[in-house]
Amino acid sequence: MTSIPDAKAPAGEVVLEAVGLTKHFPVRRRLKDVFSRTHKAVHAVDDVHLTLRRGQVVALVGESGSGKSTVARLLAQLYPRTGGDIRLHGETTKVTSGSSFRRYAARVQMIFQDPFASLNPTHTIRYHLTRPLKIHGTAGDDLEKSLHELLERVSLTPPERYLDKFPHELSGGQRQRVAIARALGARPEALLADEPVSMLDVSIRLGVLNLLRDLKERLDLAILYITHDIASARYFADETMVMYAGRMVEGGDSETVTQAPAHPYTQLLIESAPDPDRLAGAADVADEDRGNGEPPSLINPPTGCRFHPRCPKAMARCSTDEPVRLEIGDVPGHWAACWLYDKNEVAK
Ligand SMILES: Nc1ncnc2c1ncn2[C@@H]1O[C@H](COP(=O)(O)OP(=O)(O)OP(=O)(O)O)[C@@H](O)[C@H]1O
Ligand SMILES: [Mg+2]
Repeated sequence: MTSIPDAKAPAGEVVLEAVGLTKHFPVRRRLKDVFSRTHKAVHAVDDVHLTLRRGQVVALVGESGSGKSTVARLLAQLYPRTGGDIRLHGETTKVTSGSSFRRYAARVQMIFQDPFASLNPTHTIRYHLTRPLKIHGTAGDDLEKSLHELLERVSLTPPERYLDKFPHELSGGQRQRVAIARALGARPEALLADEPVSMLDVSIRLGVLNLLRDLKERLDLAILYITHDIASARYFADETMVMYAGRMVEGGDSETVTQAPAHPYTQLLIESAPDPDRLAGAADVADEDRGNGEPPSLINPPTGCRFHPRCPKAMARCSTDEPVRLEIGDVPGHWAACWLYDKNEVAK
C-alpha cells in the first residue's frame, strides 16, 4: 500500500492552489548598487492565484517571458517562492528537504517542453520508467507488469517493443509519451505540463493532447496546461487563465475567455493567433492600433496596469492604479483585471 490516495474523490475537488504566489529573481548587483543599496529583481511572477481541481484542465496562456514556466516550477516546488502560498488539499506546503520534495513529487509531477532533453540518452525506456516506480514505491509486486501498464496507459503498445529502446530510437511524440508515463509512475494527483506539445510536429500534437485529456478523465488528474497557443486552450482546457508580465489578467471558462475575451491583452492574443482567414486584412491595421510593442521590463515593471503602455484602450488611471479582478457580464467565474470593467468608470 502507498500513502498516495487514488483518484476516488469527487471530480472538482481542489487539489492544488496558488494563493498570491510571487517570485522575484534577484539580479546580480554591481558595485555601485551595493553602495546605493538598491536590490534589483526580475518580477517574474506577482500575486498569482490559481486553482487546480480533480478531473479538470486549467490552461495558462501568455506570451514569452510572461512567467508561465515560473508558475509551473513554483508549483512543482523546484524553486523557493518569494511570497504567497502553495496549498495541497488546503494545506500549506513548503519543500525543505530531499525527502519532503519526494513526498510532494509523488503527488505533483511536471512534464517539460522538450522530451529529448528530459530523457537521458544513455538509458533505456525501462530505466526511465523503473526509477519513479522504485522511488515512489508504486511498482507493486510485479515490476514488469507495472512497466507494461505504464506504457499501455500512454498507448505505446505492445510495451515490449518500447521497453528496451533508447530515447533516440523513438519519435518526438513517442518520447513525450514516455515522459508522461514516467510522470504517471509516481501516481500523481496533479500534472503540470509546460508546453508539452510545442516542440512536436503539428501533426502529432493533437494525439498527445488527446492522451492527456484521456488521462485526466480516467485518472481524475488535475492538469495545468501551459501554452502560447490560445486556440489549443479552447480545445483542451476547462478553464483558461491569461498571464501578462508576471500577473494574471483574465480568467474564466475556456469557451468564454476565447470567444468573448474581456481584457485588451487577451483580445490582442486572439487577434494575433494565426488564422488564415484574417491574415489578409491584418496588414492594414497600424501597429500602434493593435497594441503591438515590446514586452515591458520586469526589473522595473510599468506602474498601474502592466499592460497600459501597449494597451489601445488605456485610460489615465491605468498608469497609476493597479487593476483588481472585476467580474465580467453574467458569466459566472469570468473576470478581468482591467479598469474598463469598473462600474464606477462606466458611470463617469
Ligand atoms: N532563473 C531565473 N533567473 C532570473 N530570471 C529568470 C529566471 N527564470 C526566469 N526568469 C525571468 O522571469 C521571466 C519569466 O520567465 P518564464 O520562463 O517564466 O516565462 P514564460 O512565460 O515561461 O516564457 P516562455 O513562453 O518563453 O517559456 C522572464 O523575464 C525570465 O527572463
Ligand atoms: Mg516557459
